[in-house]
Amino acid sequence: MRSPWLNKLSVIFGPRPPFSWLLLCFVSVLALIAVFGSSSSNSFDSVPSTPVPEIYPNYRRLKEQAAVDYFELRTIASGASRQREFGLCSKERENYVPCYNVTENTILGFKDGEEFDRHCEVSGQGNWCLVRSPKDYKIPLRWPAGRDVIWSGNIKITKDQFLSSGSMTKRIMLLEENQIAFHPEDGLIFDGVKDYSRQIAEMLGLGSDSEFFQAGVRTVLDIGCGFGSFGAHLVSLKLMTLCIAAYEATGSQVQLALERGLPAMIGNFVSRQLPYPSLSYDMVHCTQCGIVWDKKEGMFLMEMDRLLKPGGYFVLTSPTSKPRGGSTGMKKRNMLTPLEQFTEKICWSLIAQQDDTFIWQKTVDAQCYSSNRKNDVPLCKEGYDAPYYRALVPCITGTSSKRWIPIQNRSSSSDLSSAELEVHGKFFSQEDFFEDLQVWKLALKNYWSLLTPLIFSDHPKRPGDEDPLPPFNMLRNVMDMNAHYGGLNAALLEERKMVWVMNVVPVRARNTLPLVLDRGFLGVLHDWCEPFPTYPRTYDMLHADGLLSLLTSERCGLMELFIEMDRILRPEGWVVLSDKLGVIELARAHATQIRWDARVIDLQNGSDQRLLVCQKPFLKK
Ligand SMILES: *[C@@H]1O[C@H](CO)[C@@H](O)[C@H](O)[C@H]1NC(C)=O
Ligand SMILES: *[C@@H]1O[C@H](CO)[C@@H](O)[C@H](O)[C@H]1NC(C)=O
Ligand SMILES: *[C@@H]1O[C@H](CO)[C@@H](O)[C@H](O)[C@H]1NC(C)=O
Repeated sequence: MRSPWLNKLSVIFGPRPPFSWLLLCFVSVLALIAVFGSSSSNSFDSVPSTPVPEIYPNYRRLKEQAAVDYFELRTIASGASRQREFGLCSKERENYVPCYNVTENTILGFKDGEEFDRHCEVSGQGNWCLVRSPKDYKIPLRWPAGRDVIWSGNIKITKDQFLSSGSMTKRIMLLEENQIAFHPEDGLIFDGVKDYSRQIAEMLGLGSDSEFFQAGVRTVLDIGCGFGSFGAHLVSLKLMTLCIAAYEATGSQVQLALERGLPAMIGNFVSRQLPYPSLSYDMVHCTQCGIVWDKKEGMFLMEMDRLLKPGGYFVLTSPTSKPRGGSTGMKKRNMLTPLEQFTEKICWSLIAQQDDTFIWQKTVDAQCYSSNRKNDVPLCKEGYDAPYYRALVPCITGTSSKRWIPIQNRSSSSDLSSAELEVHGKFFSQEDFFEDLQVWKLALKNYWSLLTPLIFSDHPKRPGDEDPLPPFNMLRNVMDMNAHYGGLNAALLEERKMVWVMNVVPVRARNTLPLVLDRGFLGVLHDWCEPFPTYPRTYDMLHADGLLSLLTSERCGLMELFIEMDRILRPEGWVVLSDKLGVIELARAHATQIRWDARVIDLQNGSDQRLLVCQKPFLKK
């Protein structure tokens, strides 16, 4: 007997149960399609290879926009209100260099020279403000006049430091009441630098110092460069010389060298490696540079060995550096000074000695280290090619590098030798080089035509407009904040602009720095979430191609970066940023907040690339 309930059911579903079952199946299938359908449309982001051409580019744009929004949100969240203009810092911060607060480092217990090291981790950010210029600040004279005469109000130096500046590389004199002269041409001061340079050339067996370049010496690291006079002379011989010295609150060698338009940055290696890859320099030079080379079991020498290219030279001039026990030729093992023992251990040979100057040459033979019986210095495990302020290591680096090419094996032209090109083949072929240069020459032509206050008028210039161009020596100290292969540097040289370029390779970008250095350019690794190791007002132009996009994925804010750029840039200095439309719009808002004049330029080549051209005003109050 059927229950009345069941009867009702059969009325609804009809007399034949299989049909209702089929219907149920159909509904379930529909539901399943809906579920899988929606999840498969979600899965487009995780499976971008799915061929959906109309959706994908949109999706990518959205994703980029989201990254920019996130960047912006983070910047706002970290304290900047979008409209506010920042005020000037107090007078005490006129020469402010973040990460080098010696007082604070001492309080925190750093000692034995480490208090002068870079300690960004302890420097509190404090209030955001713009570093002001000293009361008597004047725009520097143009190169090359500015190399020999600077405004005394632009730098910080005490009267005592001034009066004690008697040594060869620190010799200066006061002209008028507000100018300092170096190296005066009128012969009032005996010019020791030229003779010194000639002496070094002779010690290397060269006819004159104009032969350095042919002998393979192109880049020089000058440690504790005085006020840069040796570097200034080498620049005239086509050698790139980078001055490094520890942070100094007054009378800074780095600040003075940069003010003269000579390459310099704050750098010391008391406890940590310098931010350059191994096998970078052809010569390291130290004249009374204050480093006790045989301290710390020779670690300082090992750091220099790391930086020197095979066959490179270490030039030491110091009245106290006598590596031999006495002037007699009698040498006994136990009479060797520590310095001589160390240099022997790391396969350097003393090739010349004259007066107080000693020249060692690094071996060209990578096997030397393992075959040298006196050598108890181990080889490092490799993989050390991007050292960003790592601890000094008591081992030898670079011996297994493909870049182990003696400097004497270079071709005499300034291009990369075929051996060097081969090493960098994964980055660059000969054709790539040529193409890259053409691209950058065009970019430079555009930039150069835009570097005029006209650009901020109501009828702005367009790139390449036929107005008179700025003079070739308008800029001197240029920083390329994201240098790639050093293309801008190459284009500037090709176009005979009177600049030198600090090529910065960001730590999280592709590490192209070895290539940049092998081209004979200067360069450094840097994390743009941290301040750059330089004094305020030391660069005439900052350039960054694609840096903002690169930084959108980092943990740091854009506003900090702009305030740091403002610190580095001299008044009336220029900024050229090249990037995607989204970040450029954001950058423009920031530029306004730090009171730069700014204009977005559309290159009108059909891409969403834009230029942001800015000038820092000369604020008096
Ligand atoms: C350096 O640190 C000291 C002690 O912490 C502090 O008083 C001083 O303001 C700091 N200087 C700068 C320029 O930040
Ligand atoms: C450098 O040149 C010398 C002499 O021409 C040659 O014997 C040597 O193999 C070269 N070394 C390298 C690393 O190319
Ligand atoms: C437009 O110019 C920019 C900047 O020079 C360049 O990066 C980009 O590739 C160009 N785009 C096209 C489509 O040519």
